[in-house]
Order: sequence, then structure tokens, then C-alpha cells
Amino acid sequence: MTLLQWYESNRRSLPWRETKDAYRIWLSEIILQQTRVAQGLDYYLRFVERWPTVTDLAAASEEEVLKLWQGLGYYSRARNLLKAARQVTEQMAGRFPTRYEDLIILKGVGPYTAAAIASFSSDEAVAVVDGNVYRVLSRLFDIDTPIDTTGGQKLFLRLAEEMLNRKKPGLHNQAMMELGALVCTPATPRCGECPLHDKCLARTAATVSVRPVKQGKTRIRDRWLCYLLFKYKDRFWVRRRDAGDIWQGLWEFAGAETGAPVSGSEIRDLVRSFLSPDNQTAVDSIVPVVKDLHHQLTHRLLHIDCFIVNLSCDVRPKGEYEQISWTNWAEKAIPKAIFDLNGKISPFFVP
Ligand code: ADE
Repeated sequence: MTLLQWYESNRRSLPWRETKDAYRIWLSEIILQQTRVAQGLDYYLRFVERWPTVTDLAAASEEEVLKLWQGLGYYSRARNLLKAARQVTEQMAGRFPTRYEDLIILKGVGPYTAAAIASFSSDEAVAVVDGNVYRVLSRLFDIDTPIDTTGGQKLFLRLAEEMLNRKKPGLHNQAMMELGALVCTPATPRCGECPLHDKCLARTAATVSVRPVKQGKTRIRDRWLCYLLFKYKDRFWVRRRDAGDIWQGLWEFAGAETGAPVSGSEIRDLVRSFLSPDNQTAVDSIVPVVKDLHHQLTHRLLHIDCFIVNLSCDVRPKGEYEQISWTNWAEKAIPKAIFDLNGKISPFFVP
């Protein structure tokens, strides 16, 4: 069986595969860089329903886009999505490009995405190399060059280009990715079902389980966030995060990054530091809600503590905070980590 025959009989039917609309294909690819197909499907359907064309998306506000993106994480992708949509309406007369060279200039579109959109939407003969394709190629040719090095990336792109079916590049690329997703999987590949079984060098060499090789040098750093919900009646204080760090433009509670875990007495000092001398007595109680909740980002492990600071009167903490009711909080675009916290906090607001 050839790769394309295998694909025709095994492929999952997915909405972005049933269209040549470059805008929709682009949306699907950006979403799928962030999540798996099962979860990505819901987001994709919501995006195309809300913004059926690139012109519709370009007219959206950043806040709206972040809100619909909520839960996917890595919000710079959502911001780039909007910037790219505006590039298309302003510089390309609203016609979403289908050629690699026009796609690659769009914000947030790298070589992988440009190749995917160009080959799927207009059958341009460009090879895609995503995580799935790295795995398939590293096994097929039994390559031990790490995939996360410049040399590795060049080598794998060259192999992908050599293998590309130039008559049907779009189908070929989809097939390679689908093979990686369904058969040539990371942990327990189904080699018995693989159309490339007879050609697979790693299978012959019994190295399937150690391919691909990753250098994996990026160190994960820890960060400690301590949130303080200064609560008076059903209202508390929040802020929108600035540029230049994680969660740009998203909302969070009052609080501080502490550089290390904080003890009980340090919490009281921290709370005091948010209040002017006149307001120190406004604190009724400090109730711990979450201790050391872990949240993994690409290169960071967040340790999150959260306290409710019950206030006896309506005082304002120092800093650029806005007061909000619990009901209005639900409308804000927030990071996934805060979304997870909300569930633990809601009992304090919704009895
Ligand atoms: N992952 C990234 N792009 C994909 C696609 N077009 N279909 C399925 N999974 C994908």
C-alpha cells in the first residue's frame, strides 16, 4: 500500500480538510499548533462561526479574540492571529494568500504553517515538517541527529522535500502528518499497520523507540505567584497584564511575584504592603484558598498561591487595579491558570 492509499482509507474527516479556503486552513493550523485535534475542533468551529471570513476577524477587538482563544494558552498566538488578519485586509485587499512566499510574511506564520496552508489550499509543492513529520522521518531513515538543532532542522526539511509527492503535495503532507498522529505515534507505534513498514530503517535496526532524538537543553525555571483577592462584598481587585511578560493583555487578580515560596508571616507582610497606613485595619481575615498550585508553561513552572483577603470596608490596594464584581469577572479574558483558580474561588462568592 502506498502512503496516499493508506491516507485515503484511514484519514479522519475534519472540517479544515474539506475546504480549500486558505483563511480556514490557516485558522485550523494556528489552533492545532496549540492543542490536539479533539479540543482544537471546538475552537475551530467557534472561530469560523464567529468570524466566517478574514475581514470579519480583522474587525474584531483583541479582547474578543483573546476571549475566544481562552484556555488554549500561549496568547501571543491569538494576538498574532488578529495582526495577520489585519495585514490581509490592509495589505492584500482581504484576499487570504495561498502562496508560500506571501504567507510567510504574515504575523505568526512560520515555515511550517506557510507550507501547510500553501500545499493544502493551492497544492504548492512545499513540504511540511511538524512534530509528527519529524517522528516519521527520523524513524523511516533512522536518523539520530537531534530534531531541535539547526542542523537537524535543515536535514529533516531536505528529507521531507525529497520525499514530497510533487503531483499531490497537499495530500502527501496531510498523509505524513496523519501517519504520525495515528500510526507512527510516540510511545506505542502500530508498525504492523504502517504503509511504510517495509522501508522503515528504524524498524529494521530496532531503534524505533529512541527516535526521534532530542537535545532538549531548555531549562524549566520556577516562578512563584501569590494572588490576593482583596474582597469587599462581591467585589475584588484585578488588573490587565502589560506587555513584555507572560499573559500579555490578560486579566489577573491583585498580587505579586515573590521569587520564592512565601510563609504565613510573609503573607501578612505582603498584604500590608498593598494597603496604605490608614487602611491597615480594614483586613478582617486572610483565608488561604490554594497552596502551590502547579501550572506548566513552555519554559516555566508556575507555583501559585491564592488568598482571599476579606475587607471590612471598601479600600483600594496600591497599584493599577480595577475593582470588579464576580459576575463581570466571567467576561474577562484570563489565562488558563487563573481559569483553573476560578473554580476554587467561586464558593467564596457564590454561596
Ligand atoms: N495538526 C496540524 N495540522 C493538522 C491538520 N491539518 N490535520 C490534523 N492535524 C493537524
